[in-house]
Amino acid sequence: MMESTWSAVDAYVAGRLAHEDAVLTAAVRASEDAGLPPIQVSPPQGKLLYLLARSIGARRILEFGTLGAYSTIWLARALSEDGRLITLEADPRYADVARANISRAGLEGVVDLRVGAALDLLPDLREERPFDFTFIDADKENSPAYFAWALDHSRPGALIVADNVVREGALADPASDDPKVLAQRQLHETVATEDRVSATTIQTVGGKGYDGFMVALVER
Ligand SMILES: C[S@@+](CC[C@H](N)C(=O)[O-])C[C@H]1O[C@@H](n2cnc3c(N)ncnc32)[C@H](O)[C@@H]1O
Repeated sequence: MMESTWSAVDAYVAGRLAHEDAVLTAAVRASEDAGLPPIQVSPPQGKLLYLLARSIGARRILEFGTLGAYSTIWLARALSEDGRLITLEADPRYADVARANISRAGLEGVVDLRVGAALDLLPDLREERPFDFTFIDADKENSPAYFAWALDHSRPGALIVADNVVREGALADPASDDPKVLAQRQLHETVATEDRVSATTIQTVGGKGYDGFMVALVER
C-alpha cells in the first residue's frame, strides 16, 4: 500500500467527517509560513482527539507538545463549559506562533500555554490536577515520564493518549536501539504491569506515515 493512498484516504475522511474549518486551516498555514515542521496531527487524528475528550466530558486537559497549537485547538473545542486546557511547549518561537493561532481561534481564555521543558513545568501544575484528558506529543524520549506524571495526576475515568508510539513498526523490533523507540517500548512495558490503567495501542497510517496511538483509561 502506497503512502499516497493513505494521504488520499485522509483527505477523503477530512472532507466528510473531520472537516478542518478556516481557523484550523489558518493555523496550519501560519505554522508553515513561520517555518515550523509539519508534524502536527492530521485532521482525522485531531477529530479523534476531539471525540475522545468530548465523550468523557473533559473539563481539564493537559497537552505535552504544542507546536503551532493545531491539536490544541481541536482539543480545546471539546472542552465542556468552564473547561481549561494547559499546553506545554519548549520552543519559544513555536509558542509565539501557537499563541497567535490560539487567539485567532478565540480560545485565549481557555488555553493556558506554558513555555519551557515540560519536565521543568510539571511541578507548577500540581494545583491544576486532576486532569480528565492528557495528550502526550512532545519529545518522544520522555513519553514514559510524561505518562507516569499524567497517571499520578488524573482522575479515575480519565484518558491518556500518547502519539507516535509505533514508529514505523520499530516498536516491535527488539534490535532497535533508537532512544525514541526504546522509550515507547518502556512505556508499553510499564503500562502492561500498571494496574491503575487499561490500555491499548492502535496502529495508524495516513498523511503522516505509519505510526500509532496508545490510549489508556485511568481505572483508579
Ligand atoms: C509533534 S510536535 C507537537 C504537535 C502538536 N501536538 C500538534 O499535533 O499540533 C512536538 C512538540 O513538542 C515540543 N517539545 C519538544 N521537546 C519538548 C519538551 N521537553 N517540553 C515541551 N515541549 C517539547 C516541540 O518543540 C514540538 O513543538
